[in-house]
Amino acid sequence: ATTGQGDPPDNMKMFWRFLFRKSLPASSLCQLDYAVLGLGDSSYPKFNFIAKKLHKRLLQLGGNPLLPVALGDDQHDLGPDAVVDPWLVALWEKILALYPVPPGLEIISPDARLPPKYTLHYLPEDSPHPESAVLQPAAPRAAPCELQPFAARVVSNQRVTAQSHFQDVRLIEFDIAGSGITFSAGDVVMIQPQNCPEDVQQFCQLLRLEPHRRFMLEPTDPGTSLPPLLPQPCTIQYLVTHYLDISCVPRRSFFELLASFSTNELEREKLQEFSSAQGQEELYSYCNRPRRTTLEVLWDFPHSTCAIPADYLLDLIPRIRPRAFSIASSLLAHPERMQILVAVVQYKTRLSKARRGLCSTWLASLNPEQGDIRVPLWVKKGGMKFPADPATPVIMIGPGTGVAPFRAAIQERVALGHRGNCLFFGCRHQSKDFYCQAEWEELVTKGFLTLFTAFSRDQEEKVYVQHRIRENGKLVWELLSSENAHIYLAGNAKQMPAAVAEALQSVLQQEGGLSPLEAKEHLTALERSRRFQSETWS
Ligand code: 2AM
Repeated sequence: ATTGQGDPPDNMKMFWRFLFRKSLPASSLCQLDYAVLGLGDSSYPKFNFIAKKLHKRLLQLGGNPLLPVALGDDQHDLGPDAVVDPWLVALWEKILALYPVPPGLEIISPDARLPPKYTLHYLPEDSPHPESAVLQPAAPRAAPCELQPFAARVVSNQRVTAQSHFQDVRLIEFDIAGSGITFSAGDVVMIQPQNCPEDVQQFCQLLRLEPHRRFMLEPTDPGTSLPPLLPQPCTIQYLVTHYLDISCVPRRSFFELLASFSTNELEREKLQEFSSAQGQEELYSYCNRPRRTTLEVLWDFPHSTCAIPADYLLDLIPRIRPRAFSIASSLLAHPERMQILVAVVQYKTRLSKARRGLCSTWLASLNPEQGDIRVPLWVKKGGMKFPADPATPVIMIGPGTGVAPFRAAIQERVALGHRGNCLFFGCRHQSKDFYCQAEWEELVTKGFLTLFTAFSRDQEEKVYVQHRIRENGKLVWELLSSENAHIYLAGNAKQMPAAVAEALQSVLQQEGGLSPLEAKEHLTALERSRRFQSETWS
């Protein structure tokens, strides 16, 4: 998979470093047959960059490609499966031709159900494990990480957009005292969300599970480890609340497995259709397009749902993935605290119930006045690095919640006395979603910040950050050319990064006298030397 701005995923980094060691001889992989399947998103400029680079490197080291590189695309109407499915068929054909199944053995039919990964043993109702001892996260010994998050207390949760604004954006503060967590501007916090109580209750009802029953998990294959972050013994309620992602859009394999339990003919036929190759268009319009959740699908197939054996829960439903947020505060300004800016994800599809983002909805619902509310989190190094030299000015372009890492950077730089901070911020209305306005204005008054705002909907014509960059081209050019400024860009508007890059190029032409080609090359060179860094998402 290609992640971030053309980076390998975290769990591939060691392999990546190894593979690109200069000391590897040119023919070191001449015994290797390989096939590369990339997962990416063509709305990003470096589409499937890692898969392409991996293929090139394996080839260079003498590897023998069984198939051309396949490039899965999140933007495809049918999702990456449109590429993954035919690739898998072709791969198995190649493998079976190279390594035929030995006589006496046969290939398991794809319809055959495999044994579950774990067996779930219920404990007697009166088993002596007190719930609190089992379910309280322990104080971490080392720096918190995915396998051992820190349960941070929510200090405040404040809506920073007007009630009348379409979008609810929260500034949430956590107490991280005693966690051993440190971070600097540009770093990211990973948050492990949970399902809401109503969904948990519905799920248990549908599957006829008793929320308070305790159980122990035992791997069916001794080589399988226990799922991370799940206490043993555990209650059904804990499992469903913290572990099973019942609000994700289910994948094809979910329908396959559900069909295998179904004793209702009508439901089974439909489920089998959804799991067949021919049924993919229909599955896409039933599930992916309207973003139907696993819980909603289970509602639609009640007879099959109540036949799901508890042993198969962890095979059927993936675990809840952590979500990443740019940290929006600095330890220098707020010691022992961490703040994030969260846009609460909510949108309509053709389904009557609004779609809501699991993590942002959960975070927005947390009310620190209702007690000691904890959120499991840990910190990851971010992709953006701010200049160590205090004399280097920074130009930051962050519309919407894209401003989060820049708030952290500005707080950090101001605490160190750095004055060269220039921020381009964009939102819809000055009176509705200009969050942190008072903070910025104070810094402007004190001479720490140069601020340009683009309120896109306060006038007839749309005004965006890229317009402000063009208007202030002289200053941008001056900072870049004579003060060696660094440029940073963050945000989630799909066309925004390209439009900002265009605006920067036009500044280089207008003010720097470069030709269009030179301007483009200059911006690429700035990117290469990390003087122009971006973190964008769609
Ligand atoms: P809009 O929603 O009025 O179109 C934060 O989301 C701000 O970014 C909003 O003011 C939003 O404007 C703006 N925005 C949307 N698309 C953009 C783009 N292509 N370039 C720059 N800003 C954009």
